[in-house]
Parts: sequence; structure tokens; C-alpha cells
Amino acid sequence: MAILVTGGAGFIGSHTCVELQQAGYDVVVYDNLSNASEKSLERVEAITGKPVKFYKGDILDRDRLNEVFEKEQLDSCIHFAGLKAVGESVVKPWEYYENNIAGTLTLVDVMRKHNCKNIIFSSSATVYGDPAEIPITENCPKGQCTNPYGWTKSMLEQILSDMQKADNEWNVVLLRYFNPIGAHPSGTMGENPNGIPNNLMPYITQVAVGKLPELGVFGNDYDTQDGTGVRDYIHVVDLAKGHVKALKKIEENAGLKIYNLGTGVGYSVLDIVKNFEEANGIKIPYSIKPRRAGDIATCYSDATKAKEELGWEAEYGIKEMCADSWRWQKNNPNGYED
Ligand code: NAD
Ligand code: UFG
Repeated sequence: MAILVTGGAGFIGSHTCVELQQAGYDVVVYDNLSNASEKSLERVEAITGKPVKFYKGDILDRDRLNEVFEKEQLDSCIHFAGLKAVGESVVKPWEYYENNIAGTLTLVDVMRKHNCKNIIFSSSATVYGDPAEIPITENCPKGQCTNPYGWTKSMLEQILSDMQKADNEWNVVLLRYFNPIGAHPSGTMGENPNGIPNNLMPYITQVAVGKLPELGVFGNDYDTQDGTGVRDYIHVVDLAKGHVKALKKIEENAGLKIYNLGTGVGYSVLDIVKNFEEANGIKIPYSIKPRRAGDIATCYSDATKAKEELGWEAEYGIKEMCADSWRWQKNNPNGYED
């Protein structure tokens, strides 16, 4: 039996393929390559020494999905495929709802027709909106999302939960990621954003490599220790390992489960700049800019539930996250392009 990894050529998906193969699972990747390069899968193979079966396809393409389910013996799906750019989702809401929601509805329909009713879904801390409590436990009420991307995550959590309630043959694990950064320690795999990065760490690494002149820090008047936004950064390899643990939970027929995947520690933007500089010996010039619309002051997890129920906790610290992000960028200034 194999694990279907939708979006498996992407940033988190490719790192998860490494951990799955290293834990002894066979993986089948399904990705339309809209935000990824197939080269990431060659890098997975180079690390694990095992082949990755790849199907190019869209989660909206029912026929293609049926074909994959007919050819492969698929036991569970880890569903990463989706569009994820917050700003773009504000400009193109229909495209986000169509891709993420209609795509997932198609995927789970094909899954149930083939009697594959185990899914791990990539959700996000964004579902908490401006969180009602810090640190955020899974019991924290979901909040108002500030963009269509966030709503797709919130709505898909609801849809998958309702399906599981209606048919308890389903096992559904909703993983709420905090802020994934870092890269595989080999320096051969990492985040490969299109155009100017929106997220903090890829922006910093592009300043470090000389592609961008300086970092803009979005606001220094938040109610935080230094006025800049505080987030729970988590190494992508730790995050990937969380999926292997979640699969074990699925194998116990756990029904519906929800876990935060974070470290439980909050760092400000300026903490990240300082740690990056110290870890890598590179100065990151920055200037203070106005707040970015939709940002919140503070967001970090209480990661106790995943520790207690999955036996998972983050192992990498901030210095390793900064060093690994940089190693990837330095060795691959143009990402997966030559
Ligand atoms: P990514 O863009 O690197 O990976 C997503 C992958 O899905 C890409 O390879 C893309 O080509 C593929 N894809 C998109 N639409 C598709 C479709 N219709 N059919 C088939 N493939 C499709 O992003 P990532 O950072 O690896 O994120 C993976 C998942 O985790 C996403 O669902 C994202 O929303 C979620 N997530 C990411 C973060 C983050 O900060 N990176 C935080 C929380 C949640
Ligand atoms: N920031 C800057 N300058 C930049 C980029 C970011 O100062 O150039 C700041 C932001 O204002 C924020 C912090 O760095 O305070 C982190 O910003 P990111 O864009 O890296 O991450 P977000 O917390 O805004 O959002 C990310 C993903 C979301 C996901 C969320 C989960 O983009 O999809 O983490 O917590 F939902």
C-alpha cells in the first residue's frame, strides 16, 4: 500500500516525501506543478535512494485522479495541494475557492469511490484569525479569516469534519501548521517561491544572497516585546515528521483529530533577523515599513496535544532553521532552476 501525496512536489510536500520514505512508506506524488518543479522529487530520490512515483495532474481533474486510484494501491492521502499566496487570494478569490475547495471536493469524492477514506489535511494557524488566546490550543475558537486563502482552510476543515461525522469509516487529521521555514539540512531541497517572496524567511535569504536590497519590517508598533510581529516558526523537517506521526494515528482508526504543529515558541521579526545574522555571519539590512494589511501581532502555539497524542515535538531550534534556510538559498540561488 502507498500514500498519495497531493502537492508532493511543493515545499512541505517534498520534505514530507523524504520522511515518509525514510519511515518505510511508498509514496505516490500527484501535483500539477503550478507552484513546483519536478526537480524537487529528484532531490527526494537522491536523499532517500528510493524512487518517487509521480503523476502530473490536477486535483480538479476527476478522470486523472480515477486513473491514479485505479493504477495504484492507495491507503491514505496526505493532501498538500492548494494555492497558498495570501495576497493573491484577495485579488483572485474565485480561483482560490475553485482550486482549493472544488479541488478537495473532487479529490475526496474520488477517494471514497475507491474506498480510500484516510486523509491528512494541510490546515493553518490562520483558521484561528486574531486568536482569542495565546498560546493557541486546539480548543481556541476558530476566528474571522482576513483573506480568501484562510477561508478555504477554515471551510475545508468544516467540510472534512462533516464528512467524517456522516461516515465514520473516514479518518481525518487536520494539521494546523504555524510558520514553516528552514530546509532539508543537505541543502538540496527548500522553499522555491515565485517572484518576490511574501513570507519573511525567503525574503531574508534573498536579501542575504543579494537578490533584494533590504528587508522591509512590516510595523514596529505592535504590542509585542520589540513592536514587531511574533510568530511560531517551525523547521520544515519537523513539520514533515509530524505527518508521519499523523499517519500512525490514522492507522489506529482515530476518526477526526486536530493538531497544532508548532514549536510553542514565539519569535519577533527582529529576533529572526538577529538569529539569521548570528547563525550565518551575514548582515541583513532592514528598514521599518507600515504594518501589512491583515497581519496580527502575535501567533504561537501550545503544542502539547501533538506531543501527548502523536508523540511528536519539534526538535530543531531557530538557529538550525536559519542555517538550513541559508544553506539551501546559497547552494541554489535560483531555487530548482539551473
Ligand atoms: P507549495 O505551493 O510549495 O505546495 C503546494 C503544491 O500543490 C505545489 O507543488 C503546487 O504545484 C500544487 N498544487 C496547487 N494546486 C494544485 C492542483 N489544483 N492540483 C494539483 N496540485 C496542485 O506550498 P507549501 O508551502 O508546501 O504548502 C503545502 C500546503 O500547506 C498548502 O495546502 C498550504 O496551503 C499549506 N500551508 C502552508 C503554510 C506555509 O506557510 N508554507 C502554512 C500553513 C499551511
Ligand atoms: N514580515 C515582514 N517583512 C516581510 C515579510 C513578513 O516584516 O517581508 C513579517 C510579517 O509582518 C509577520 C512575520 O514577518 O509579522 C511573518 O510573516 P509571514 O508572511 O512569513 O507569515 P504569516 O504569519 O503572515 O503567514 C504564514 C503563511 C500563512 C499561514 C500562516 C500560519 O503565509 O499562509 O503563516 O501562521 F497561514
